Amino acid sequence: MQASNSSSEDQKFLVRRLLISDKSKGFIELLRQLTVCDSVSDNDFEDRFHEISSLGDYHVICVIEDESSGKIIATGSVFIENKFLRNCGKVGHIEDVVVDTNARGMQLGKKVIAFLTDHARSMGCYKVILDCSLENGAFYEKCGFKQKEIQMVKYFV
Ligand SMILES: CC(C)(COP(=O)(O)OP(=O)(O)OC[C@H]1O[C@@H](n2cnc3c(N)ncnc32)[C@H](O)[C@@H]1OP(=O)(O)O)[C@@H](O)C(=O)NCCC(=O)NCCS
Repeated sequence: MQASNSSSEDQKFLVRRLLISDKSKGFIELLRQLTVCDSVSDNDFEDRFHEISSLGDYHVICVIEDESSGKIIATGSVFIENKFLRNCGKVGHIEDVVVDTNARGMQLGKKVIAFLTDHARSMGCYKVILDCSLENGAFYEKCGFKQKEIQMVKYFV
């Protein structure tokens, strides 16, 4: 019983890549739960979507859609950086991870991170990194990450 419940939950909350149609499913509103995200016109959304898509597997944005409500309830992205060091190695950068307030604590954040981490590994990255608040450190530790060094930032706007 337990196993079939969890597998139907798994099927209900599949992680997939972002689609253009996700704009009308609350994708921008979800990003607003993470940080400042002004309204984006349909044209601007399409332009940026195609720009990111043209990078293929080098820039992947994933989402989880709640099939019952048709809303996007979780997202995250990974960008693959080509380097000269480590034998011309690659590093994955995870960004913009957010789960809808009403869907937190259901292992969806963990699913998003697993998807993005698996993608970075499959692209040949030797590591995957991200910045987070101290409060979210425990979440990322549950996802298999460990704290290293400090974050530095300079904002231009
Ligand atoms: C951080 C966030 C993505 C976690 O998503 P979530 O779907 O609620 O997390 P999950 O249900 O997948 O949690 C996985 C595990 O981490 C734990 N966890 C989640 N958030 C935690 C927190 N803030 N502190 C400690 N543990 C946490 C859960 O208890 C769970 O533990 P378990 O595997 O032992 O049951 C979500 O709270 C969120 O969107 N926060 C606001 C936006 C944000 O801060 N994003 C991160 C930017 S770096």
